[in-house]
Amino acid sequence: MTEHLTVVEHPLVQHKLTLMREKTTSTKTFRQLLREIAHLLAYEVTRELPMTTDRIETPLCPMDAPMIEGKKLALVSILRAGNGLLDGILDLVPAARVGFVGLYRDPETLQPVKYYFKVPDALEDRITIVVDPMLATGNSSAAAIDMLKEAGAKNIRFLCLLAAPEGVARMKEAHPDVPIVTAALDDHLNDHGYIVPGLGDAGDRMYGTK
Ligand code: URA
Repeated sequence: MTEHLTVVEHPLVQHKLTLMREKTTSTKTFRQLLREIAHLLAYEVTRELPMTTDRIETPLCPMDAPMIEGKKLALVSILRAGNGLLDGILDLVPAARVGFVGLYRDPETLQPVKYYFKVPDALEDRITIVVDPMLATGNSSAAAIDMLKEAGAKNIRFLCLLAAPEGVARMKEAHPDVPIVTAALDDHLNDHGYIVPGLGDAGDRMYGTK
């Protein structure tokens, strides 16, 4: 992918996103819509995967048929909201390897601190797609990608549902080599770090917590 930021303007994505933003949308519907949008975003983020051919036999003749080249993709979810996007992508790429990064924000330093990190082997040979619905300040995404690069990942993409300009700028500064795919670029972050207009707390809306 050559663009640093790709906004997927497909009508189905935009329509479903509007339903997700609406505050009266139920937990069940929110979760279902996130899964459906994840399918459409997965289509975009995998658009340029390298291809090869495999010799197969159809009932009529042999043919060199297209296949995705290389090791299985690594999907890495930033806990906990990343899991909503992860489930949808796994519907389309069921053989992908899966990792999880858990981070919390230190109340004193406000810096992300790792509490969980488990990722697939041979990251250096895989395309890694990091998923988190909300790219807000970009601090946790940038920190998660630092950790993945330390673990060997070289070819990384970041997939989110909503991005704030502040988060995009932070990622561009920290990881200019990591393309971002999102359904929308929103206006700004408020004083509490929420994306505006946004959709609220993605984890709470997905899991029905407060
Ligand atoms: N995380 C969320 O869940 N929502 C925001 O608006 C920002 C960060």
